[in-house]
Amino acid sequence: MLDIGKTATWLLRRLNPETAHELAIHSIAHGLAGHGKPDHSALRTEALGLSFPNPIGLAAGFDKNARAVRGLANLGFGFVETGTVTPRPQPGNPRPRLFRLTEDRAIINRMGFNSCGIDQFCQNLAPLFRPDRNGQVQPASAPIGINLGINKTGSDPLVDYPALVGRTKAYADYITINLSSPNTPGLRDLQAADMLARILDAIQTAHPDRPPLLVKLAPDLEDRAYAPILRTAIDGGVNGLILTNTTLARPASLHSPHRAETGGLSGAPLTERARDVLGLVSELNARQLCLISSGGIETGRDILDRLKMGADLVQIYTTFIYEGPAVLTRLKQELLQEMSRSGIRSLAALRR
Ligand SMILES: Cc1cc2nc3c(=O)[nH]c(=O)nc-3n(C[C@H](O)[C@H](O)[C@H](O)COP(=O)(O)O)c2cc1C
Repeated sequence: MLDIGKTATWLLRRLNPETAHELAIHSIAHGLAGHGKPDHSALRTEALGLSFPNPIGLAAGFDKNARAVRGLANLGFGFVETGTVTPRPQPGNPRPRLFRLTEDRAIINRMGFNSCGIDQFCQNLAPLFRPDRNGQVQPASAPIGINLGINKTGSDPLVDYPALVGRTKAYADYITINLSSPNTPGLRDLQAADMLARILDAIQTAHPDRPPLLVKLAPDLEDRAYAPILRTAIDGGVNGLILTNTTLARPASLHSPHRAETGGLSGAPLTERARDVLGLVSELNARQLCLISSGGIETGRDILDRLKMGADLVQIYTTFIYEGPAVLTRLKQELLQEMSRSGIRSLAALRR
């Protein structure tokens, strides 16, 4: 029998990457991409005071404008992070700005925060919270995170991040401030401990009632830079870290003709650095903050590895682009097999 999901993924891989992306968002938003099965109870886990049906989230940047949040949750993600959204609409960098490095199971992107802006973003999310005919609000089937960024020009992080938190706090199960995209000039400088402290203070003062707050970090900082950031995050009331965003590094192992394109590299070549950063932060963290690991996750074994290293949850992006929604069934099956091989009865038990 023809597997519609797999055939669609095969066709999408043959299109220009941005056209394929647009089509994928459209079909997921309209429920045409299928529905995941209910998750095995062994995959259920708790973090950030929230309950997750499984630990595999969709990383930010796939649904930047919150157009397909419910459909993405229905595919079987354990949580969905939408955004990055900026205060004002902006077009991002000129095309081409998205490159598949198929030989390397990787992507390079220099999208540059193409965003519909916060007003349209909130309009797109609002229907999720509207009561149905019976007066009931039907939330998405998994927690929803909202990832916040700043405009390329005319931005003031001390004003913009608190304002964005204010606009999105009613819609978000958690909020991420993105300080790590390599495609917005100056953004990554905000990771410096003193600047981070000022941003966190501004958010905390304006919105003490905010949902859990996470900070997403780059993999390209020097190893010794992570300790002061972690300390500042804890002191500033942050609830979790996402480790990591894409890298500017270009490992010598890359084969694809696109390997010299400017932008952030994701997928398999990011695995080693994303693991290393998780390892070093996890050791210092001693379970004080929730850690979400992102970068080059391709198998159930990768997921269990990150969870054993101290991650509470994981996120995928590049693997989802290459395999489509079927990747979720595969990853969950593999994770359950790996757990059984390691004698782990449930993820909840692993975290105790
Ligand atoms: C095309 C593309 C766009 C992305 N856009 C964003 C973004 O807007 N905000 C963000 O925080 N991360 C963004 N990311 C980074 C991902 O969320 C993720 O952290 C990174 O790709 C590593 O995971 P992966 O190796 O599974 O892809 C983007 C990644 C890709 C490939």
